[in-house]
Amino acid sequence: MASSGAPVTIGILFSQTGVTAVLERAQRQAASLAVSQVNSEGGLLGRELHLLDSDTASDPARYKTEATRLLDLGADAIVGCYMSSARKAVLPIVEARNSLLFYPTLYEGFEYASCCIYSGAAPNQNARILADYLTETHGDRYFFVGSNYVYPYESNRVMRDLLSNRGAKVVDEVYIPLNPTDEDIAKVIALIRNAGPVVVFSTIVGDGAVRFCSAYDRAGFDRHLQPVASLTFGEPEIAALGKSAATGHIKAAPYFSVIDSPANLAFVTAYREKFGPDSPISAEAEAAFFQVKLFAEAVRRAGTTDRASVVRALPTFSLEAPQGTVRVDAATHHTHLWPRVAVVDESGTFRIVRESAKPVAPDPYLVEVEKLPPVTLASVPSGGAN
Ligand code: ACM
Repeated sequence: MASSGAPVTIGILFSQTGVTAVLERAQRQAASLAVSQVNSEGGLLGRELHLLDSDTASDPARYKTEATRLLDLGADAIVGCYMSSARKAVLPIVEARNSLLFYPTLYEGFEYASCCIYSGAAPNQNARILADYLTETHGDRYFFVGSNYVYPYESNRVMRDLLSNRGAKVVDEVYIPLNPTDEDIAKVIALIRNAGPVVVFSTIVGDGAVRFCSAYDRAGFDRHLQPVASLTFGEPEIAALGKSAATGHIKAAPYFSVIDSPANLAFVTAYREKFGPDSPISAEAEAAFFQVKLFAEAVRRAGTTDRASVVRALPTFSLEAPQGTVRVDAATHHTHLWPRVAVVDESGTFRIVRESAKPVAPDPYLVEVEKLPPVTLASVPSGGAN
């Protein structure tokens, strides 16, 4: 174990309480697993990697104060944030302190910050493959429902364009509070019933999404005919919802814990040995895991934690992540990722039905997305039609 100098420190900015804790807990666990693996592999620059923890309570104001506290404590970089409102609150602090935020969550795109490395999917890496899949397999009527903050509005704007370019129609678009009441949810369920057979594209996040999907299940919709599709609702939310209530849900993301590869098997095994055999692992957790590894490798290559040197080093190497080979793009600060679509089967487990045969370059401003041919698809294992 390398420990000759003062440790390199990485601040963790995730919520252990509040509306998005259901999924941020998995992100935090995955980041801490990566920190222990970096240390067991010898650390970096002859030093250990230490984790500075926080609980941001799903409150953007709290992300700001905790980011400040972590940087005051000497964090060399931060990994964290789920909601885009949290990221937007934190970025000015990280920039003012000349530090670096590793953001491991899918988001709406249309952003570049010199102090941020984005490794969740941009819309060309998740929404596009989802729009193709849905319009080819589920028809042309869509109902949008989202939580009332920036990501759902902006993500819906992009999704509306992608669907209408494919001849589909959005029949309604409604928003509910981040912490919805039962009445808020019941109103949306009634609107969906009145709209008739449609795909529900949900950008509700966290506990609100779990409660919405629970109400959708109790309302008795046939989810094979009227599925809920999203870019967010993953394994942690399914665990909170209950597996039988999730059958038929569709998600597009670069990672699902069922990916059959040696790198993913090693990750899933290590994660479940540390956090329990039933611990759900999401795409956003996998990104938190490999972002810590990206930071460690960039520091090793740069020979320093200085931001400019680390940012210069990041695009110079590829990393074998659980989802496949990933690489940071120098021009956009986003990451080359592997678009996939999966459907929850009768056992409550994601089954991958469509996946890219190669990593897709980030296009956060959607400059090229509709000019390029569809992503090259890999053949999926048996049972994975489409
Ligand atoms: C999100 O708010 N970026 C999910």
